[in-house]
Amino acid sequence: MKKNTTTPQRRNFLKNLGLSTLPVLLPAASMASELTWDTSNQQQVPVNFIFDGLWFSPQAYLDKLQAINQKQAIAPDYYGNGGATQKLETAFAKITGKEKAIFLPTGTMANQLVIKLLNGNNTKVLVPENSHVFRDEADAAQEVHGKRLVPVGKGKPFFELQDLKQTIRYYNEGEVFRSGIGTVVIECPVRRADGAAIPFNTLKAITNYCREKGYKTHLDGARIHLASAYTGVSVAKYASLFDTVYISLYKYLNASSGAILCGKAEVIDQLTHQIKVYGGTAFQTWNATAMALHYLEGIEDRWKKVKVNAAQVMSSLNKLEGVQINKLTNGTNIYHLKLDKTIDLKVLANTLFKGHNIWLGRANKEGIVKFTINESLLQRTPQKIVDAWKQALGKAKK
Ligand SMILES: Cc1ncc(COP(=O)(O)O)c(C=O)c1O
Repeated sequence: MKKNTTTPQRRNFLKNLGLSTLPVLLPAASMASELTWDTSNQQQVPVNFIFDGLWFSPQAYLDKLQAINQKQAIAPDYYGNGGATQKLETAFAKITGKEKAIFLPTGTMANQLVIKLLNGNNTKVLVPENSHVFRDEADAAQEVHGKRLVPVGKGKPFFELQDLKQTIRYYNEGEVFRSGIGTVVIECPVRRADGAAIPFNTLKAITNYCREKGYKTHLDGARIHLASAYTGVSVAKYASLFDTVYISLYKYLNASSGAILCGKAEVIDQLTHQIKVYGGTAFQTWNATAMALHYLEGIEDRWKKVKVNAAQVMSSLNKLEGVQINKLTNGTNIYHLKLDKTIDLKVLANTLFKGHNIWLGRANKEGIVKFTINESLLQRTPQKIVDAWKQALGKAKK
């Protein structure tokens, strides 16, 4: 019999995403296809402490699109031209203060294609060691685009200017057949550092230096609105430091997939052809872009409310015996939840899920649950959420 090799790979993929992305009630070996857990018996809309966004079931996604369409008929695009997709591109160009924006099917494609274009004939691209570009894009830069990714700042949540200078010196002085460094990539917030937002002054120092030296800069801002919500630095201000910025449409804008890339017209105009060459030109994308457009509108105001509600919930939960939720250095929407030994996390999560449709993630090896804040907190009053926890904690006491 033919061995199924995809299962372990997919398990590893999910595991590597961080255990917190899996609800605690699912078996550890769950595959992505099993993440469609049944919530049909739930009376209440879900509140999740796992994802950056709402995590719609297919039914909820269809219902939401239907509601959006009823309010104002969704205009379809044709190979990305016109309709909701073009509207979204225009909105993002404005939000980021860039000349143009373009839709791409994935953030991976956005990062890889723009790095290649910005880098021109230079072979080296400097990237954060713990970034998605370096560690989660399957060596695409080397394998597909002929670029060599050079990691900076290993072991740190993010690199500083001196780390970058040191790396540049190392390569420029140490390689006999020197080839060019063309681009510096930064990811903010940093997914592998529990959503840490790089301080604005650090970003400014690095990008100023790059401009002085003639290096292009790209921001992997998959979750840039989340950084903005917590630092108060606008998306436009972040984007102003970089030549190009990519933003995800599904992390917190609740689209089924997709990415937006913003920058100068001379760069973005080259993308249409590149996306086609690599097979990324989809016939219609309005099902994703109409959703993202809907959630883009009013996002800043909603996150102000999310933060107020989250602060109330966390302050109340922290007063409960055995519960500790800690803020992180440079943190954004991810906190560390620790329960003392008298509380059974599995029972707590199951009770919260089954009784209240509140979702909680798994603990990592250190016993920490990545407690993630998102817009689902607006679906229930803080008091109701806290009451649910009190009831569930009562059951989870060992
Ligand atoms: C920081 C960061 N950049 C890029 C991506 C890639 O996005 P996509 O899944 O759309 O390729 C991700 C996705 O997890 C991410 O977290």
